[in-house]
Amino acid sequence: MQDPKRVLTISYSQSGQIDRILNSICDPMRAAGIEVICATIQPKRAYPFPWPLMQFFNVFPETVYEDGPEVTLQTADQTDLNAIDFDLVIIGYQVWFLAPSLPVSSFLKTIEAKKLLSGQRVVTVIGCRNMWLMAQERMKAHLHRLGAILIDNVALTDRSHSAMTFLSTPIWVLTGYRGPWLSGFVPRAGVPDADISEAQRFGRAISDALTERDTNDCSPMLVGLGAVRINDKLIQSEKAGTRSFAVWGKLLRWIGPPNSRLRRLVLCFFVLFLIALILTVVPIVALAKAILRPALRKRIEAECAYYSQPSGETHTER
Ligand SMILES: Cc1cc2nc3c(=O)[nH]c(=O)nc-3n(C[C@H](O)[C@H](O)[C@H](O)COP(=O)(O)O)c2cc1C
Repeated sequence: MQDPKRVLTISYSQSGQIDRILNSICDPMRAAGIEVICATIQPKRAYPFPWPLMQFFNVFPETVYEDGPEVTLQTADQTDLNAIDFDLVIIGYQVWFLAPSLPVSSFLKTIEAKKLLSGQRVVTVIGCRNMWLMAQERMKAHLHRLGAILIDNVALTDRSHSAMTFLSTPIWVLTGYRGPWLSGFVPRAGVPDADISEAQRFGRAISDALTERDTNDCSPMLVGLGAVRINDKLIQSEKAGTRSFAVWGKLLRWIGPPNSRLRRLVLCFFVLFLIALILTVVPIVALAKAILRPALRKRIEAECAYYSQPSGETHTER
């Protein structure tokens, strides 16, 4: 009899959203007889949820510079993960300030990550507001450094209008309550339940691929399933945001450690900058892009095709 296929999931989630997404993906795999082992990333000092306002913004410089806490990888029954030969690793993560969340980037720098991911086929699963492209670029760089092979990416995002999620996501993470607020004017935050439940289709495709195809096959398993949607209006905003975050992050880290009073003061200016950026750059870039769309069509298509890899058809969201 053939050895059962084994899949390891590695995740971090504050509200449990990523875990719900991973469970939805893994249910059909378990039903197909695949052994799924779930490991969670635990920071030595837990981050709060809901976040106190100051702490929420104060984590920004360290997130941008990936200067995170010590973390450990834990399973429910202390499984020795290094003793198991996995057929696939699924990494579930969320985005903080256009980068992978700090616990996740910290994990990717550990020796444990090197041992588990080197030479391994990896599927990344993102659950965030809607700006994940630059975070995934960083994730790709980490996986490349670790010698892992990224074969698929699933990105599930909040479906409400961007302008609304700029309100609903902070309200959610600062209060712990997803909404809706103001009689539905501010919609319920997070990945819609229907999208989480429909993520089962990815699990079915993974089960089929793992059981049917050659063990050395590293081609994507999720093409044609709508694993990612690229909102081309956000590409330039993410790039501009990442550049300015690098400058602000450097300045704030130079001013002092997270508990320094001066840093907290300058952080207030960063928050004002961030609000101005959101209210000006994002709509201006979107408007400029709409006007220039016919001239930029080829470039936009090429960018969408690039960011949708490895799993996406070049379907874009406008
Ligand atoms: C500190 C912080 C920064 C965030 N920055 C972003 C971001 O840049 N882009 C984005 O799409 N979502 C962002 N989010 C939303 C998260 O990606 C995620 O959707 C939410 O925190 C729930 O994740 P959970 O699985 O940890 O509960 C941020 C959340 C937090 C707490």
